[in-house]
Amino acid sequence: MVLSTATKTEVLIQALPYIQQYEQKTFVIKYGGAAMVDDELKEAFAQDVTLLKKIGIRIIIVHGGGKDITEIAGRLGLASRFVEGQRYTDEAMMDVVQMVLGGKTNKDIVARINQHDGGAVGICGIDDGLLLTRRQGGVDLGLVGEIVRVNTAFLDLLFTHDIMPVIAPIGVDEKGQAFNINADIAAGSIATALKAEKLVYLSDVEGVMAGDILVPSVDKDHAEQLMQKGVISSGMVPKVRSAFEALEAGVQKVHIIDGRVKHSLLLEIFTDEGIGTEFVR
Ligand SMILES: Nc1ncnc2c1ncn2[C@@H]1O[C@H](COP(=O)(O)OP(=O)(O)O)[C@@H](O)[C@H]1O
Ligand SMILES: [Mg+2]
Repeated sequence: MVLSTATKTEVLIQALPYIQQYEQKTFVIKYGGAAMVDDELKEAFAQDVTLLKKIGIRIIIVHGGGKDITEIAGRLGLASRFVEGQRYTDEAMMDVVQMVLGGKTNKDIVARINQHDGGAVGICGIDDGLLLTRRQGGVDLGLVGEIVRVNTAFLDLLFTHDIMPVIAPIGVDEKGQAFNINADIAAGSIATALKAEKLVYLSDVEGVMAGDILVPSVDKDHAEQLMQKGVISSGMVPKVRSAFEALEAGVQKVHIIDGRVKHSLLLEIFTDEGIGTEFVR
């Protein structure tokens, strides 16, 4: 695509009000799906978050990595077990989660962002007790945790030094036991704790779908109905639940956008045309 100089200046100028609006604001981005796998999409994401950071937005990335965990666990001879669509994490699997999610997956993301001078630092919820966690209630998932407290002072410290935190969703309890945490829920809790301006879920879907139709905006009652009917299920459920928790806690805007579309993050932030689904109060 070749743009004329006039078009280029027009596009840049149109971004100005958004840049002014978002300076010094906090955005939490849940990074997952194809955008974490495909080389071109990974590159576009690294550029997008670097650009957002360089115009003064405080960017926090919380990443998934279920596919990497399943693959490496398989190579180590550990089968992945799922209970009601959620991974069961025994001690051996927790070791893999820590090594893969907190290691290779996390550092690959950091390396790519830093190729663009994004100033990313990879951490997990164990670092400085960032995510104080306890064993998740309800159905037994082994070492799967729910977040009790987010150490926001640590994140503020990183922002003071112009660092972009890239967070692997691993938490720790008071005894030092590590827990695996659903990345959507971790992103929601972090956004909630920071009263973020925006929480964005990048996923491999256009947004919340009702059959073949994209739902451009959804409130809590409507979402509950869709979950009861089973229209919203599986991996969409933790996104929806954490989205409304975040909104109720004062996060201004929560979106789910299509991570398969190159630069969808920039489109969402710098244009009025809504893409994906917006969760509304
Ligand atoms: N109503 C819905 N709209 C969109 N996706 C849905 C819906 N209900 C269930 N899903 C499933 O949720 C998945 C997204 O969650 P998940 O697979 O955990 O990916 P990630 O957490 O990496 O974004 C979609 O790929 C889709 O299969
Ligand atoms: Mg998921």
